[in-house]
Order: sequence, then structure tokens, then C-alpha cells
Amino acid sequence: KIIVLDFGSQYNQLITRRIREFGIYSELLSHNLTAAEIKKMAPKGIIFSGGPNSVYDENAFHVDPEIFELGIPVLGICYGMQLMANELNGKVESANNKEYGKADIHVASADEPMFKGLPATQTVWMSHGDLVTSVPEGFRIAATSANCPISAMSNDEKKFYGLQFHPEVRNTEHGNDILRHFAFDICKARDNWSMDDFIDMQIDKIRETVGDKKVLLGLSGGVDSSVVGVLLHKAIGTQLTSIFVDHGLLRKGEVEQVMASLEGKFGLNIIQVDAKKRFMDKLAGVSDPEKKRKIIGNEFIRVFDDEAAKLDGIDYLAQGTLYTDVIESGTDTAQTIKSHHNVGGLPEDVQFQLIEPLRTLFKDEVRELGERLGMSSDLVWRQPFPGPGLGIRVIGEITEEKLKIVRDSDLILREEIANHGLDREIWQYFTVLPGIRSVGVMGDGRTYDYTVGIRAVTSIDGMTADFAKIPWDVLQAISVRIVNEVDHVNRIVYDITSKPPATIEWE
Ligand code: XMP
Repeated sequence: KIIVLDFGSQYNQLITRRIREFGIYSELLSHNLTAAEIKKMAPKGIIFSGGPNSVYDENAFHVDPEIFELGIPVLGICYGMQLMANELNGKVESANNKEYGKADIHVASADEPMFKGLPATQTVWMSHGDLVTSVPEGFRIAATSANCPISAMSNDEKKFYGLQFHPEVRNTEHGNDILRHFAFDICKARDNWSMDDFIDMQIDKIRETVGDKKVLLGLSGGVDSSVVGVLLHKAIGTQLTSIFVDHGLLRKGEVEQVMASLEGKFGLNIIQVDAKKRFMDKLAGVSDPEKKRKIIGNEFIRVFDDEAAKLDGIDYLAQGTLYTDVIESGTDTAQTIKSHHNVGGLPEDVQFQLIEPLRTLFKDEVRELGERLGMSSDLVWRQPFPGPGLGIRVIGEITEEKLKIVRDSDLILREEIANHGLDREIWQYFTVLPGIRSVGVMGDGRTYDYTVGIRAVTSIDGMTADFAKIPWDVLQAISVRIVNEVDHVNRIVYDITSKPPATIEWE
């Protein structure tokens, strides 16, 4: 395996993921690991991720310097390269201009191990404030760019390499090739890891953790918790009880669909709870998005507590937390962007131990897992749906009237996207109700009604996203239907921002 040490970059998990795509097991681990701990794991290679700090910051993250004595190849990316340069007595300075975006680099020699067989000039994704201005002894400059004279550095003897740009980001044209060179040629790792191994590993781990105890799972209606349900059912069968909380924030028809497939087809034992009123009461008058998320997350757990109290001897609570939820809720290095309900919303007095078997997976890995487990493609390929559901798609205060507008318009959008065969291409598509009202004209009369926003994005893993280029005629069909069929809507707008700088959801 190849381990990635986390210095807090927003892209850190992507590195892990790329390595796994090569069929090599990879994990993101704390930068606080000691050289001795790493030695025990015997990785084939170590990657230092990027990070938001400068190596000179008072609170900058460091590594155990003994890591450089282990004889294991190291690749430093962005901050990771600066850290390596700094630790090994090179020089790092603040750049005159912060560089963010695409840049062209020129590779120093066709024999550079990281760039073998790749074009001499290539586009990369830069995102940094500091620069390495002098390489440590034993290193040579492997690539340069106009703003960054040391864009890459190499030391073949020690097998230490540095990249100032981000090879894990898709905007880096040959990023995957560069990582492949590091993983296969330099680390000599082998591609013998697969999703089937992951399933076996997880099933063993779940059985070992759970023993003869009982597990409770919260089904949310989304892909993630459904996959967790099927995986746990496979591992521990009737020791699993699932609770499907209908918080009234689900899409139209969702409850029926999930029950038919998970209970009907897979035989999960599911308790369906109608908690609509509980959630609406708690959410009344609340408009702050973080508060809404916390309330929904907390209430979810409380409904669980209440239901679990009726059951006998439950020790574990299973959740469909993904890698992306973990990062965005803040690991020990990353900044919190949004508190995801799976992670950030847990109240302190929660009385279960958590099992999160998808914690290290990305969305498309979860889908692959679902398919391997024999789940039908319409279940596995459902678009991602946030835990807080439509609660964060009604912007500001949630009311029944507003929820109905979102539910009805969302169904129309889904139908039209499917009718036009776009449902697999677009990662997520939904409507939001921003709470704006504007003037319109219908028949002979003036209207003063709501605006509905259409959000549709393409994405690989939800970490970054582009707005989907839905053809005009499809947008027109959606717009006409929503305005005609949903009461109190007289205007439709289309969100044309990517992530970053926007997020996929509006709250
Ligand atoms: P954002 O809006 O942060 O969303 O760009 C990234 C992906 O995560 C989904 N999302 C959530 N999923 N609990 C979840 O399980 C949540 O609280 C949550 N909030 C956002 C979002 O739909 C998108 O796919």
C-alpha cells in the first residue's frame, strides 16, 4: 500500500482515491504518525499531501524527520514538497504572487522518472502561496514554469520527489500518469487491491467489531445508507435492524421506493417511523442553514434513541458516512465547510458506538460496492441526496407550503431529465426554493409568486463540480411544466456556478 499523510489540503482524499484507482490500497493518515509507526505498516511509498499553511507558520504541520531515514520513497505535493525542501535544508519563500489555476510546466529532461514518456510541456493545476526557491542537496529541478521556477524536484538516490502542482486534480493534464510513475516505477507497488477485497475486509471487520451484538441503521433514502444496509445485512443478517425515519423532507415517492427494494428484495428488517411532525415542530421559525442541519441531525438521532429504546440491547449505530462528509466536516487539519448531518450533527449524549463502513469511500466507489453486492442499478445510481433532505433546499425557514413546491418541482425536473435520457450524465439535479418572490403575469393578472432555482451539476465525487450544460429545449420543457403545474411559482432560474466557488447544495 501507499500511505498519504494529511496536511489539510482540500484535495487530500483525492490522492488516496487516485492511488486506489490504480488497484493499490491507499489510506489518508495523520501527519502526526511517527517514523516507527509508519515502518510497522511497511508502505511501499509515502505521499505528503498539500495544505493551507506556510512551512514558516507558527502552527505549521511537520513530520517526524526520521521518515526520511526509512528508505521508503516519498512524494511531496505542494505544501508536502515545501515541507520536504524545508526539512532537508532547501529553501522555501513566499511567492510574490499567489498562484491559483492552470499553468504550463516544462519538464527538464525526458528521463525524469515522474514524467517518463510525457510531453515536455504540459498543463498543471497550481494552488500555492509559497515556493521552493532552492532545492535541497542531492535534488535536481525536474520541471519549471513561468511563475514557479521549481515546479518539480527529484532525488533518485533517496527516491524523494516533489511537485509544486496538484497531480490528483483532473485539471492537471497528466496528473494520473505522474502518480502512476511514482506508484509503480518508483515505489514498485503492485495493483492487487479491488472492491471485492474491500467487501471481504469490511465484512470481516464488521463481524469482528459487532460479535453477537445488535446494530441499528438509519436509512435515509439515499444510496449510501442503502448500501450500508445491504452490506451489514450480508455481514450480520438478523442482528441488523433498520429504522427508516420519514422526516417529511424526502422526495416524492421515495419512502415507497426504498421500502419496496430494501425490505421487499433484500429482506432487511425495517421499522418505518413517521416523524414528520416532530421535525416540523423543531424547525419552525429556524432559517440559519447550520442550525437547520444541526436540528435535523440531532432530531434524527433522537428519533433513533426513542425507537431504539423500544428495542432490546442495541449497541451499535451504523451510518453511511462517506469520505467527502468526513473531510468537509473537518479532520484534524481541514477547515469545516459545512457540518454534514452524518458527522457534525451528533449530539454529545449519543449512546451508541458508531459503525461507518463507507467512511473511506467516495461516491462512485460506493456505487461500485452496491453493484457488487447485487443491488439494482436504479437503486445504486440514484443521485446523491443529502441527509437533511429538502430541508436544505428550502432556503431559510421551512414551511409545508414551501416543501410542497420543492417536492413537486423536483419530481417534474427528475421526470424531464429522465425523459431526455440525461439522468446518468448529470451527477445531481434538483430544485431549490430561495424564498424570493417576484412579479409575473399570468392570463390577465399580475402575480407575485416564488422563484424556483434549478441546480444541476456534473461531478466525479461531489468534491468539485461543474454546472451541467442542459440543452435549452430541455430547460424550456422543465420551466414550462413547473410554472404550469406547481402552484405559486412564476419564475425559474438556472444556477450556473461550479464548485468551487459555490457548493452543490444551496445551504
Ligand atoms: P455540497 O453542497 O457540500 O455537497 O457541495 C456535496 C455533496 O454532498 C451532499 N450533501 C450531503 N450529504 N449529508 C449528506 O449525506 C449532508 O448533510 C449533506 N450536505 C450535502 C450534496 O448533496 C452533494 O452531493
